[in-house]
Amino acid sequence: MTTSSAVNANISIEQLGDIALICIDNPPVNASGQLVRQGLLDAVTQLNSAADAKVIAIYAAGRTFVAGADIKEFGKPPLEPYLPDVFNAIEASAIPVISILHGTALGGGFELALSTHARIGLKGLKVGLPEVNLGLLPGAGGTQRLPRLAGMGFTLDMALSGKPVSAEAALEAGAIDRLVEGDPRDVALAMAQEVIDGTLATRPTGSLQVAADETLLEETANKLRMKQPHLFSPHKIVEAVAASTLPLAEGLKVERAAFMDAMQTPQRGGLIHAFFGERAVSNIPEAKGDARDIAKVGIIGGGTMGSGIATACLLAGLPVRLIEVAQDGLDRGVATITKNLEGAVKRGKLTQAKKAAALAALEPSLAMEDLADVDLVIEAVFESMDVKRDIFGKLDTICKDGAILASNTSYLDINEIAACTSRPGDVLGLHFFSPAHVMRLLEIVQGAETAPEVLATGFAFAKRLKKVGVLAQVCDGFIGNRIMNHYAKAVGYLVLDGASPAEVDQALEGFGLAMGPHKVGDLAGLDIGWANRKRTADQRDPADRYATPHADRICEQGWFGRKTGSGYYTYEDKHPKVNPEAIKIIEDLRSELGITPQDFSAEEIVDRYLTAMIVESIRVIEDGTAKRPVDVDMVFLFGYGFPRFRGGPLHQADQIGTKALIKRIEGYAVEDARYWQVPQLLRDMDAAGQTFADLNKKA
Ligand code: 3HC
Repeated sequence: MTTSSAVNANISIEQLGDIALICIDNPPVNASGQLVRQGLLDAVTQLNSAADAKVIAIYAAGRTFVAGADIKEFGKPPLEPYLPDVFNAIEASAIPVISILHGTALGGGFELALSTHARIGLKGLKVGLPEVNLGLLPGAGGTQRLPRLAGMGFTLDMALSGKPVSAEAALEAGAIDRLVEGDPRDVALAMAQEVIDGTLATRPTGSLQVAADETLLEETANKLRMKQPHLFSPHKIVEAVAASTLPLAEGLKVERAAFMDAMQTPQRGGLIHAFFGERAVSNIPEAKGDARDIAKVGIIGGGTMGSGIATACLLAGLPVRLIEVAQDGLDRGVATITKNLEGAVKRGKLTQAKKAAALAALEPSLAMEDLADVDLVIEAVFESMDVKRDIFGKLDTICKDGAILASNTSYLDINEIAACTSRPGDVLGLHFFSPAHVMRLLEIVQGAETAPEVLATGFAFAKRLKKVGVLAQVCDGFIGNRIMNHYAKAVGYLVLDGASPAEVDQALEGFGLAMGPHKVGDLAGLDIGWANRKRTADQRDPADRYATPHADRICEQGWFGRKTGSGYYTYEDKHPKVNPEAIKIIEDLRSELGITPQDFSAEEIVDRYLTAMIVESIRVIEDGTAKRPVDVDMVFLFGYGFPRFRGGPLHQADQIGTKALIKRIEGYAVEDARYWQVPQLLRDMDAAGQTFADLNKKA
């Protein structure tokens, strides 16, 4: 006899003779929100009380098994029943429970499976413990049950990397018991029958013993102390996995306490802001219209940027026509693309066969006329408006109707570029970040006349390239470079006023930047900024305090950083050492300018740097260059190496608070009232008691 009943809106039971099926249905990803937890608990309790089923099989409807706890519930008061209690009840079920996993079983979803008495994967399944990406650790038995099934090493790899593994790898490690093909419900029925027939073994995971590996635990803990000193949860993961040798109930207590501690850290808030922010940037009407088809891309310019963009397109399976003016430039472009693809093979991102296919899809050419059949052209030549005007005028006559014409300019006016064509509606900015095949940010710059479907195509293109597309309006430097140019001055002032470049770098590395700004300058080449400053010298306002005379003097010595062996640092061996001659230049300059050097603590350095970044970020929101605070935050996370666990400059602004920020800025303004000004929006928000998170919700 078959009976079906809904336990609640997310959970239903279907009983077919001796077999009970529990179906989880909570679209889009079956996250284990309160109703799922309550429904699972009620279903298992109910079936055990009735005691007329011989086996219970849990499966999920839709595109995936459970993708984890419901992240939207985090930060709010917890709602019973708690996930660990539900899973303990499943493990304690007198009727054996099996789980059928398809799509992705992640975090709490995988932990649900671990608490059942056997796990069946469907082809294509991925399992993982991604909590570390959210500043958390598995908090519902993952650190205790997975070592029992697959060992400490497998658990540490999975929980510390946050990366899912294939079903094949999970099967080999013992994390799942079978790998089959089929529809989840059909497989659930078939496997339940096998349990009844005695051909599929079941046992509670908690009954298994863990083989302790003290050396591995110690080595892992030491490595983390070196590599991730800022992060909280990875260290807690090691502690929790170490506790898996205890009886299950005791180990679960250790895990739960660590999970609750991680929940309280600001890192959890920053990383979850990043998770939702990455998705929110394209959750806007501009990104959702009908997009045009892009089957072939033309790229003008085979320099570092053009080659990187071409690589990104080829990696996404898009054929590319690469245009250069001279054969040697074209050859260099092809060589760079080949090297980039080889790098992707080395990093395990590409197979040799796919590399060969990508190279076969690259058509180098010296004739702009060859762009007649492409759907999208991205111009990536050097930053000269005259050159760009000329190129876009030509593209207008060459390209087919409906082709989209994009510029990768970092600063220049898209409207001026669009005006050189008879089709400004088809023109937009697509601003990539170097290396363009690696960095995930893509600023999508809307011109005054850019057509809605052209913008939507920009977003669809970003998605195809697996990039994070962020909408920006036209201004000098768009969102990211405009803000960077502002806070770079604060760095210059810090050095002129008394901090050494190494002190600034150390303080900001302590904040979480991978490299301080002076080390980055040395790496990129100090001559790049110098050339820019010389080019724009006549636009400098004499009333504005010049922030980088020391940088000019260092460049005048021919010291451009790593490539010349010295800059702010010297590079005789792998490790940079402070360049005493650069320090002398800075000290001499302070004397000439009559500056008495001040002492800056690391905290003060970070505060000034971050406050300068926040101030310009607020102005970018105020004048509409960026739509919402979250857009600015994602620009910095995905394009500028801002520490992900800090969430972004405006997420940080909310941690500091409007009052404290205003007080800080006013304090700095005593020294330099021209540079340090409180944006009106900040004052208005303070008066209204608003946060940047509130502005995100309103927009
Ligand atoms: N909770 C709440 N919402 C979630 C969610 C979750 N765990 N996972 C995804 N979503 C939402 C997304 O925000 C998105 O919402 P939107 O449509 O409103 O923007 C929607 O579901 C679809 O997600 P994606 O756009 O990311 O869809 P994809 O198909 O590209 O990816 C996925 C699916 C691989 C499951 C991906 O969403 C993902 O990685 N999710 C997060 C998984 C995760 O981190 N789980 C661990 C949670 S913490 C935990 O379980 C703690 C436990 O140990 C106690």
